[in-house]
Amino acid sequence: MLNLTNIGLLATYNSKISAIERTHDCTISIDDGIITDISGTNFSTKESIDCNGKLVTPGFVDAHTHPVFVDGRENEFMSRLAGVSYQEIAKEGGGINSSIAAVRNATEIELYDRVIKRMDKFIKMGTTTLEAKSGYGLDTESELKSLRVLDHLNSVHEIDIISTFLGAHAIPPEFNGDSNGYITLLCKEMIPAVAEQGIAKFCDVFCEEGYFNVNDSQKILQTATQHSLIPRLHADEFTDSGAASLAAEIGAISADHLMEVNDQGIKDMAKAGVTAILLPGTTFFLGDHSYAPARKIISEGINVALATDFNPGSCHIQSMPFIISLACLFLDLTLDEALKAATWTGACALNVEENVGSIEVGKKADLIIWDLDTPEEIPYNVASVPIQNVIKNGKLVIRLD
Ligand code: NIG
Ligand code: FE
Repeated sequence: MLNLTNIGLLATYNSKISAIERTHDCTISIDDGIITDISGTNFSTKESIDCNGKLVTPGFVDAHTHPVFVDGRENEFMSRLAGVSYQEIAKEGGGINSSIAAVRNATEIELYDRVIKRMDKFIKMGTTTLEAKSGYGLDTESELKSLRVLDHLNSVHEIDIISTFLGAHAIPPEFNGDSNGYITLLCKEMIPAVAEQGIAKFCDVFCEEGYFNVNDSQKILQTATQHSLIPRLHADEFTDSGAASLAAEIGAISADHLMEVNDQGIKDMAKAGVTAILLPGTTFFLGDHSYAPARKIISEGINVALATDFNPGSCHIQSMPFIISLACLFLDLTLDEALKAATWTGACALNVEENVGSIEVGKKADLIIWDLDTPEEIPYNVASVPIQNVIKNGKLVIRLD
């Protein structure tokens, strides 16, 4: 049905050679949203898009976002500029808990209207598959409402959304001083309800001092596993709490953040095959310098994915191209490592690598046509998004003329 002709350079991770493969001067043929041929010699008379000799890559897979909130928290950003830390803001009633009332009070339609605008922006920036968490409702009905919004959006929006239940994002105000009460609610009511409705694939926990400790997190994620939700964790983001080792022990698919991870945690993750999802945008947005020890993580043989962590507090960034720039500059990833991490490994961390995350015959035609000649220009063009077209499921969804 559709041909992408005159591709100057195709750059994609190829799992057969375990490397980024660069193919010059080729054509991609697409039928029913699926790639059917990649060659230099396709002359069929299908409808075609001329890539003008430019670069084509897979669409990005952003494997960690928190898009279901109402308003931004630019007031907190200003406080941080004045010298107050993210943790101090949270202790004084700001942070995650300050986003809860608005989500609880919003109707499903109001919430949907907020989130769809964010999905439009993600896809414009080249993200074609997105993991999205609940976590700003923190009572059963508001968490289910948040997940229903994602489910609805997944069915109407071009972007593919994979949902994660993050009821264990913070202790909500009504359980102040009674974290056990909230953990009981999570395990006895919320997780079973989410699982029964089939509206989340993963269950995440913010395992961090002042939020959920290692024992709480273990209990919550074991319950999630019993209900067939796949466990993953916010691990060792602000403090080293041993969360990376817990991720290994419970067989989590990923441990995310890892800015403060200890050496044992890295070793345990490597042994258990847990993917590290690194989020350099958060360190950057917090004005911090403690980037995750990516080289150490990679040298132990751990697979690394990159994601935005888009949320209203610690990282208001939606651009994967910018995350690639940060990864090259501050995590010391090579360009090829960063490109793989933003596509293929992100897809592996969401268990969707059979369909997306690379350009291969038989996979979904989720593609970016860049206004660039080489992948080296992606991190070089810091903070701009030089994208010409985004193709999702073989359909032209973004045309920037
Ligand atoms: O990944 N760490 C927990 N959650 C987010 C922050 C959420 C917020 O501040 O609203 C994060 O950094
Ligand atoms: Fe996060």
